[in-house]
Amino acid sequence: MSVTVRVPAKVNVQLAVGAARPDGFHDLANVFLAVGLYDEVTVTPADELRVTCAGPDADQVPLDRTNLAARAAVALAARHGIDPAVHIHIAKDIPVAGGMAGGSADGAGALVACDELWGTEATREELLDICAELGSDVPFSLVGGAALGTGRGEKLAVLEVGGAFHWVFAMAERGLSTPAVFREFDRLGEGTDIPEPVASRELLDALAKGDPDALAAAVSNDLQPAALSLFPELADTLAAGRTAGALAALVSGSGPTTAFLARDPESAAKVAAALATSGTCRTVRVTSGPALGATVLGG
Ligand code: C5P
Repeated sequence: MSVTVRVPAKVNVQLAVGAARPDGFHDLANVFLAVGLYDEVTVTPADELRVTCAGPDADQVPLDRTNLAARAAVALAARHGIDPAVHIHIAKDIPVAGGMAGGSADGAGALVACDELWGTEATREELLDICAELGSDVPFSLVGGAALGTGRGEKLAVLEVGGAFHWVFAMAERGLSTPAVFREFDRLGEGTDIPEPVASRELLDALAKGDPDALAAAVSNDLQPAALSLFPELADTLAAGRTAGALAALVSGSGPTTAFLARDPESAAKVAAALATSGTCRTVRVTSGPALGATVLGG
């Protein structure tokens, strides 16, 4: 018997970052939108816990107990006095170290899959608690849709979305480490007064209306200057997408994936074609959001 769970990637349509807290994390106003790029996590009973991964970036995925999927299985098993002897297979389509919550998706996916396989019947609240322990973006991978994350991003309020938004994502030649990008944010902000992060009213209204022009006018990412400082070539990718007609171009989360909002599927295809031949990125994907959160596909 096995269970497979499909989990979406995310883009941050707003990422407002406050000053570093005493624990090293940063308070955020983080508006997540789940988009239709997915990892699939399959769990099967085994003699001992092991992780395998397949997909274009599979060689960059750690297969030991540092993998969030393995940590999710161990955390759920510990709470229920179960031996986490399970084979976790990740069919990976979300870019690795890309700022699209690929690792977080695998954590949420493994958690939901193990809960189903073991019949632990954890409540939604318990699953969300475990997700928050695993990482700041993991609760959103479980929930999907759109949500405002506060605290370090893990306290979620579900947001209304009035329509589909069309996106193009450009994957970069190399990854960026999230902690390194936050450290660069701290370095760039040294000696300046960093305001409390707050969600933009205009942005939340644009999401609720499903209005791409209004959303494009309101998107923002406070980590973008830090990501560009560590990876200056991303400015060329952003410029190529803007020139091709994207309504907005921004770094996704901590990067280095870049995200381009398009008015409709035709415009998205045009932006994607221009980016694919621009020589400024590795691969290009077209999709839309919101997408469903972690979903059991069956066994
Ligand atoms: O929570 P997660 O493990 O995904 O965070 C990865 C790293 O990103 C943290 O170790 C920290 O350096 C940084 N981070 C942060 N503030 C947040 C979320 C993440 O500084 N709100």
